[in-house]
Amino acid sequence: MREKSFATKGDAVIVTGAAGGIGAATVENLVNQGIFVFAVDKNSEALSKILAGIDPKNVLTQAIAADVTSEKDCQSVCEAAKSKGIRVKGLVNNAAVGAFNMSVESTSFEDWQRIISINLTSLYLMAKYALPLIRSAGGGAVVNISSIHAYATSTGVAPYAAAKGGVLALTRTMALDLAPDNIRVVCIIPGATDTPMLRQHAEREGKTLAELGFPSSENAIGRIAQPEEVADVIAFALSRGASFITGSSLIPDGGILAKF
Ligand SMILES: NC(=O)c1ccc[n+]([C@@H]2O[C@H](COP(=O)([O-])OP(=O)(O)OC[C@H]3O[C@@H](n4cnc5c(N)ncnc54)[C@H](O)[C@@H]3O)[C@@H](O)[C@H]2O)c1
Repeated sequence: MREKSFATKGDAVIVTGAAGGIGAATVENLVNQGIFVFAVDKNSEALSKILAGIDPKNVLTQAIAADVTSEKDCQSVCEAAKSKGIRVKGLVNNAAVGAFNMSVESTSFEDWQRIISINLTSLYLMAKYALPLIRSAGGGAVVNISSIHAYATSTGVAPYAAAKGGVLALTRTMALDLAPDNIRVVCIIPGATDTPMLRQHAEREGKTLAELGFPSSENAIGRIAQPEEVADVIAFALSRGASFITGSSLIPDGGILAKF
């Protein structure tokens, strides 16, 4: 398993939510290692801008505009990846939406289904169509981005926390199913990270991140993460160094979960 279950220079990885904060930092990290990235996002305009900055000549990236809640789009992403002819050794299931001020009672059924669909069901859909590619490459890794809300949470995040808890459970069961194929499945549990998701939340609330309590002493390190710090952990999960890690979580949370 050790020699097969990771991505390295010359391999390809699919990254969803590639135009967002953590997604773009992950694309940059992988490209810097010589890994080809199929960069997937619903927001094609933002995606083009991001990739123009990271890989202006499109040598190591291919932008794919897709909605990961659509089975047809997920299938098309994987068909495009297959047709490129590079070994696909990894999938980073990163796309998601933030959802705040949403208790069970205040969340409409429509919003509940929308958030679960983006933040949980899309991981199943992308994996369903990407796994045959990773298997035919001899193995690799799926990295599922969850959140500290899978472990400890707060008020007003019912659909988000439910989805992220589901991502953790999905990671465990996928890891068991896929170990015989040299495919590792790893969950990432980021704490608050300085990305458009968090900044848009602050804007909607008309408050600064500090006023919302994000750079907090509750967090042992006392600040929020930069997206590159989470991307480093994602890249590690895909790498040879993580060849004995599967079915468990890596937790770049600055220490927030260490406290009562
Ligand atoms: N920022 C944080 O504080 C934080 C903390 C814990 C976990 N996370 C998780 O990290 C991941 C990345 O978050 P981020 O903060 O970089 O968010 P972000 O909003 O900056 O990026 C998310 C990206 O996903 C894309 N996306 C959304 N719905 C999509 C869809 N249906 N199809 C395709 N693309 C879609 C968006 O266009 C966006 O580019 C998410 O899974 C998020 O839940 C973030």
